[in-house]
Amino acid sequence: MNRVAIVTGGTRGIGRAICEQLKDDGFNVVANYGGNDDAAKQFTDETGVPTYKFDVGDHEATLAGCEQIAAEVGPVEAVVNNAGITRDGTLHKMSYDDWHEVMRINLGGCFNMSKACFPGMRERGWGRIVNIGSINGQAGQYGQVNYAAAKSGIHGFTKALAQEGARANITVNAIAPGYIDTDMVAAVPQGVLDKIVAGIPVGRLGQAGEIARGVSFLCSEEAGFVTGSTMSINGGQHMY
Ligand code: CAA
Repeated sequence: MNRVAIVTGGTRGIGRAICEQLKDDGFNVVANYGGNDDAAKQFTDETGVPTYKFDVGDHEATLAGCEQIAAEVGPVEAVVNNAGITRDGTLHKMSYDDWHEVMRINLGGCFNMSKACFPGMRERGWGRIVNIGSINGQAGQYGQVNYAAAKSGIHGFTKALAQEGARANITVNAIAPGYIDTDMVAAVPQGVLDKIVAGIPVGRLGQAGEIARGVSFLCSEEAGFVTGSTMSINGGQHMY
């Protein structure tokens, strides 16, 4: 039977490309989403991938959502924590709510999903968790203390959980995308974005499928010795 994979924030942008790629790889994929019902319906119509609506930043809702998926689809063996939001602004203009929402969803979502799915992976002795971090969690970014902190937290979370999962054949890795051609990046003011793209050695935005290829590798059987790592896919914008 095909392994079940959940992709959070899976109906649009990078998440959608990940769903399509993992489906091609032979996973039984389900997509979580938080709010946009129209996009979710269109996604299922076009891909055949079912969706489950819950807020990954809400602990109880996430536990209930994952329990429902396990009951209806099967035990979850791969989790891609992709759901994320931006609430950009310089610190002096940023509200507490803008700080807290980004931490709650982007970082809290990784904790909540892992709490829901990691115990079953331990019992079965196999699992794949891929957390979508960001170049801006590695390098920081003007106007993003909330997002950079949450994404940086994801990288620490990944390394800690990787140590806990290793003995049970659960790998935990992160991908740090650079600027990818999605609605999220399209929301950056054009003048600012032009300057950012000018600083990308490859000379263009990335494509969502280029992130999905990385996730595909990290979720594969053959990647069992890769854990606690961060794969940077950013066109050479940040190297270290
Ligand atoms: N470094 C130094 N100074 C900067 C700067 C930078 N990177 N960016 C802007 N500034 C300066 C501006 O030049 C400007 O200075 P002057 O007034 O002297 O001209 C000043 O800061 C204010 O800039 P803005 O006019 O842009 O200020 P604002 O309050 O209207 O907007 C902002 C601030 C919301 C942060 C806006 O600059 C912005 O959206 N920046 C882009 C942030 C970004 O990259 N977000 C990434 C979203 S995509 C994503 O996050 C996905 C991922 O993982 C990569």
